[in-house]
Amino acid sequence: MPVPSHPTRRALLFGSAGTAALLAGGPGALLGTGSAAPRPALPVADTAVSLDAAPVTVDLGSRTVHTWGYADRVPGPEIRVTAGGTVSARLHNNLPQETTVHWHGLRIDPTMDGAPGLSQVAVAPGDVFDYRFTAPDPGTYFYHSHVGTQLDRAAYGALVVEDPAEPLGYDAEWIVVLDDWIDGTGTDPDAALNLIRTGPVQTMHSTLLGGTAGHIDYPHYLVNGRTPEAPEVFTETPGRRIRLRLINAGADTAFRVALGGHELTVTHTDGYPVVPVTVDTLLIGMGERYDVLVTLADGVFPLVAAAEGKNARAFAVLRTSAGEAPSASVAVPELRGRLLTLADLVVDPSVDLGDTPARGVDLVLGRGRDGTGWTLGTSSAFDSPPLRVPVALGERVRLSFTNTTRMWHPVHLHGHTFQVRGATGRGPRKDTVMVRPRESVAVDVLAENPGEWMLHCHNLYHSELGMMATFGYGETPPPGPDMPGMSGMSGPG
Ligand code: C2O
Ligand code: CU
Repeated sequence: MPVPSHPTRRALLFGSAGTAALLAGGPGALLGTGSAAPRPALPVADTAVSLDAAPVTVDLGSRTVHTWGYADRVPGPEIRVTAGGTVSARLHNNLPQETTVHWHGLRIDPTMDGAPGLSQVAVAPGDVFDYRFTAPDPGTYFYHSHVGTQLDRAAYGALVVEDPAEPLGYDAEWIVVLDDWIDGTGTDPDAALNLIRTGPVQTMHSTLLGGTAGHIDYPHYLVNGRTPEAPEVFTETPGRRIRLRLINAGADTAFRVALGGHELTVTHTDGYPVVPVTVDTLLIGMGERYDVLVTLADGVFPLVAAAEGKNARAFAVLRTSAGEAPSASVAVPELRGRLLTLADLVVDPSVDLGDTPARGVDLVLGRGRDGTGWTLGTSSAFDSPPLRVPVALGERVRLSFTNTTRMWHPVHLHGHTFQVRGATGRGPRKDTVMVRPRESVAVDVLAENPGEWMLHCHNLYHSELGMMATFGYGETPPPGPDMPGMSGMSGPG
């Protein structure tokens, strides 16, 4: 039973020229009128890619690091497909440990989801695995390894699913992938995991919004694999409208994003449309994505992604005219301007799940009793094996997450896009939602994609230390794949 999706939106907006004219000037100004030409219709196109997971040497601009990734650059290859098209990705594992690829946010078959030990046997060193799936919904996604701390190396890349009849009008795209970088800098993510496992939560990063957004003070924060000292420069023409596709591929960092001299009109989160809302800055948690439209001014501008609570930033440059580039430490007043909140986001009617009552499931984000692990369960006690939330095909389930800790937890559900309820009940469709300290967030899921799915915190260190449950169809799990190397599925170990 597929969810009403983008075709409805297209039919609504392009049903007649009259409709388009009525919308011009309102939200319709984003929809193919104004300065930006409508996007040409696309034929449905498949895509094939080869991903070689291997030890690589990567140039971050101001330094070179040895790490593990899919190419000699970070992010890995950008994958682009049209909705309805097929992605074929051949994974070669040339790493010294197992690996998988997870297609974060995509509503695909569980056997292709890359969840080790749950829906696929992890790919052994030297082995090959063919991922093949149809990309069901347009939007901004990403892919990443789902084994150990490989995500906090270079094992990730952007994945864009084009709408064959894109309703937004814009002239160009800028994919902005954010990351926090430690690997190959004299330490690595496994060492960081050990410190977090054995140490108390650092409380030094107290932020405006309370609690602690992350554990690690990373040596570098990256935009598209570049450090602030050698930033990416995106060159365009004043007056043109661009679509930023913001992706947070960081393991332990939420970013506060702003573009100097510009407002941000948010049109999508986690791939799905919202009623457009204009702000100066937004916070993006690990695993989240935002699509933003910007009409370009004339000049040279800083794109900043401040690492929340960490007193450092990722940085890039937007250039639409000659002139000196701003320095990486330039003051960006927009960072202190109107901040997007979850309550500002209203679902686009075409993807609203509606008001059908849902069965409630209360879930607690907590610390393990001994204070070393992290939990996602019905209480803050460890569930070992992880808690399984059983659902029936076709039912609505309201998952209510309560954060009893002092840290931020971006909670991600595989294989589905839930709807945040919020005060109005009309919150956005998302697959990853930030739950702040002492906060509760309720999301509705339509159980429409049978399988066994992971539900976990997208702080990589929390999921590795036990903040992981599963969401499965039927009262008892079917006999799964053989489960050696169940990463993140075995508690604090
Ligand atoms: Cu991007 Cu299980 O996560
Ligand atoms: Cu967490």
